[in-house]
Amino acid sequence: MNLRLFLAAALLASLTACETAGKVEPKFSSLYGDYFSNCKQCHAAGALGKTSETEKSLDFSSSAKAYATLTGGSATGLVGNQADCNGVPFIQKGDPAHSLVVAALDAGARQAFDLAGNPNCDASAISDMTVKVNKTPSTEFLSALKTWITNGAQND
Ligand code: HEC
Repeated sequence: MNLRLFLAAALLASLTACETAGKVEPKFSSLYGDYFSNCKQCHAAGALGKTSETEKSLDFSSSAKAYATLTGGSATGLVGNQADCNGVPFIQKGDPAHSLVVAALDAGARQAFDLAGNPNCDASAISDMTVKVNKTPSTEFLSALKTWITNGAQND
């Protein structure tokens, strides 16, 4: 290969590497690695930030536990005005607008949150969890999360 061809190939390889680095895909493994792993500071057995008032069903200590608790359950143990969201599913497969975990991370989804069975689980009862991890999720993460739920929230 001559030098010019070699340089062109090297440049192309580095550009491709940049494009893939940091990209969030609508797959659970990608969502967990990009952002959900931060949530284990409080939502895990014996977690450092856990208090008696921490929501009780979620466990983000591993990707497998996070997937199981997010897709298999609904909020429990919430107190005060947050208690209006007890019983609300974290994820409604196919329906990000009615998935509590989306509302906890996305201000627009929180404002619009409206469930017939839990009319008081609205923006005043759903806490913004992005302040608790002190890290704003990227717009890429939020759109990948919504797409993943729309696609059926598979353990992928
Ligand atoms: C500093 C501790 C802490 C961290 C970190 C944390 N949470 Fe929470 N979480 C809580 C507490 C406490 C509650 C109970 C409601 C409240 O007091 O705000 C809660 C409640 C929730 C709820 C129930 C609905 C709601 O909003 O009240 C969801 C869903 C949730 N957390 C998801 C997450 C996700 C996803 C992350 C990671 C981005 C996260 N949490 C990070 C402490 C935390």
